[in-house]
Amino acid sequence: MGESTPREGVWKLRVLITGITGFTGSHLAEYLVTLHGVEVFGTYRVRSRMDNLVHLQGQIHLLECELKDFHSVNELIGKVRPDYIFHLAAQSFVPTSWNAPRDTFFNNVLGEINVFEAIRLHKLSTRIQIAGSSEEYGLVYPAETPINEENPLRPLSPYGVSKVAQDLFGYQYFQSYGLDIVRTRTFNHEGPRRGEAFVLSNFAKQIAAIESGRRPPVLAVGNLDAQRDFTDVRDVVKAYKLALDLGVPGEVYNIGSGCVWRIGDALDQLLRLTPIQVTIEPDPDRMRPSDVPLLHCDMSKFAAQTGWRPEIPFAQTLADLLNYWRTVEAGR
Ligand code: GDD
Repeated sequence: MGESTPREGVWKLRVLITGITGFTGSHLAEYLVTLHGVEVFGTYRVRSRMDNLVHLQGQIHLLECELKDFHSVNELIGKVRPDYIFHLAAQSFVPTSWNAPRDTFFNNVLGEINVFEAIRLHKLSTRIQIAGSSEEYGLVYPAETPINEENPLRPLSPYGVSKVAQDLFGYQYFQSYGLDIVRTRTFNHEGPRRGEAFVLSNFAKQIAAIESGRRPPVLAVGNLDAQRDFTDVRDVVKAYKLALDLGVPGEVYNIGSGCVWRIGDALDQLLRLTPIQVTIEPDPDRMRPSDVPLLHCDMSKFAAQTGWRPEIPFAQTLADLLNYWRTVEAGR
């Protein structure tokens, strides 16, 4: 299992999270520091916001790294010599990928290739998780749901294409060089600290601002007819750890709850948590050139391999998300 490093005479699993400053990365770090015998390292860029990590100060090691630069990645891997890598760093907002398709592609694909090449160069046997996405499936016909890993990949956004490329590079580096890579395709995940651009977080943020009187009671929305399979991020990060503990090298696993919500119905659930009355206003700028209509996860392969099951109900995720934005609003 790669380099095991005695620290104060105790063996610790050295775990590197790329994108530790982000939403999922910070939740993963928060989970890992609760486990016995795990030492957590994470990468950041000069312009990264550190807000998500303030409560982890002194518990993790942060290293500056530009993943698009091989020199930077190579130095990082040589320093950390990780046993596990969770490769989460990515441009992850689908609409941005239409405005910046090249940057999305280079950012997502080049960073990963640099990690793989550095692992090869240092001759490490690191286990690497590649965070793919249900957006890789893209256009899925109703008869193909719930979606299993054998479904054709028909991505509908530049982001989706970049994730297919990451996924296939993971497959190829496993086949060509025997790199110990486990690929995951994760469906939508939400929870406290979710970036404000993403749908439920954006709605919750608007509600909190309306409650505080900072916004008029008008809630801007995009496509409410899309359907998404939501899982709490705190369940997802446990799945990621299990993927590297128990996943089969070279394999790909869907991670999701199997609970599908029409976005409009999820918004109704959020609105039940507030006493305010709002007018819903469609915002044309929130519509996409093509939107994935339906994502419904079949996670039976991953459940059979690892025993993982999501535990946090959707209602709890929504309540925690809204309370998170209420706290942010109160601190303004
Ligand atoms: N962002 C946003 N804002 N989405 C809206 C809005 C809105 O005001 N109104 C409706 N939607 C719809 C979108 O059109 C989409 O169908 C759905 O809500 C979810 O949008 P996002 O939260 O932006 O997520 P996503 O499904 O595009 O992508 C997320 O999930 C993927 C996994 O399936 C991201 O987290 C990706 O990084 C992730 O890979």
